[in-house]
Amino acid sequence: MLSYRHSFHAGNHADVLKHTVQALIIEALKGKDKPFVYHDSHSGAGRYDLQSEHAEKTAECVDGIGRLWGLDCPQLLHPYLKAVKAINPTGDLRYYPGSPKMAGLLLRAQDRLVLTELHPTDFPLLKQEFGGDRRAKIYKTDGYQQLRASLPPQERRGVVLIDPPYELKTEYADLVNGIEQSIKRWATGTYAIWYPVVFRENIDFVERRLKASGIKSILKIEMNVMGDSNAHGMTGSGMIVINPPWKLEQQMNELLPWLTEKLAQGPGSRFSVEWLAAE
Ligand SMILES: C[S@@+](CC[C@H](N)C(=O)[O-])C[C@H]1O[C@@H](n2cnc3c(N)ncnc32)[C@H](O)[C@@H]1O
Repeated sequence: MLSYRHSFHAGNHADVLKHTVQALIIEALKGKDKPFVYHDSHSGAGRYDLQSEHAEKTAECVDGIGRLWGLDCPQLLHPYLKAVKAINPTGDLRYYPGSPKMAGLLLRAQDRLVLTELHPTDFPLLKQEFGGDRRAKIYKTDGYQQLRASLPPQERRGVVLIDPPYELKTEYADLVNGIEQSIKRWATGTYAIWYPVVFRENIDFVERRLKASGIKSILKIEMNVMGDSNAHGMTGSGMIVINPPWKLEQQMNELLPWLTEKLAQGPGSRFSVEWLAAE
């Protein structure tokens, strides 16, 4: 089943959190000259037009990137905003970079991207977005299958972003299985896993399985724009980061009070940064 289209959600509060964390991880990897790989298992289209019919129908970006655009934002948001500004050179907010485009804009000439996307409409858009970029390899295949085929990367440094659509409840078990298999192949990579807060039980399941897996160094970052509720759709989102850069915990504790306040939509908004497993 491939009904999910990220074009309806691009630039919302969850994308702000996901891509901010992604950008901070990439900036940390750039601290060394040695090349690294960025692997995106569920890439989407790469670029979204915020004036498209899909984006305008939900207008989710209004309460996401739209609330930050033009504000004097904390320095920790600058890598993320630098990428968003780069595809909006006129200064008007028209386009939003999905995770692969965000990475493409932040990576250096010596770094590499491995991108997978299955959707028959989004895959050609992604290919077109990276046309001529020799750093990028783009596959129309299952994201977890490609992880099995590509890990460990030749560089032995880098980050894997796992951002499934979670259309089916079974995708939470697929996620944990995919992580466990990837870690067996490449234990030292950074893995950044996005999840929505819709039904708390699904997150509890992932947490339980990860805690029982024996995988070490797992940081969980969550931002809720309102209190948990089964009636309001997605009330927040989180990033589970395995082998995070050493400063990420401190950076998120510094940034999230400001960001949560700016993106809050109702009572019960909050954030948390906690270790599911220590190093
Ligand atoms: C949440 S969206 C990705 C958004 C993107 N990571 C971003 O932040 O801009 C999830 C994407 O996964 C794709 N997808 C679904 N199942 C997949 C699979 N088994 N392998 C690879 N991609 C898949 C969907 O078509 C969709 O574009």
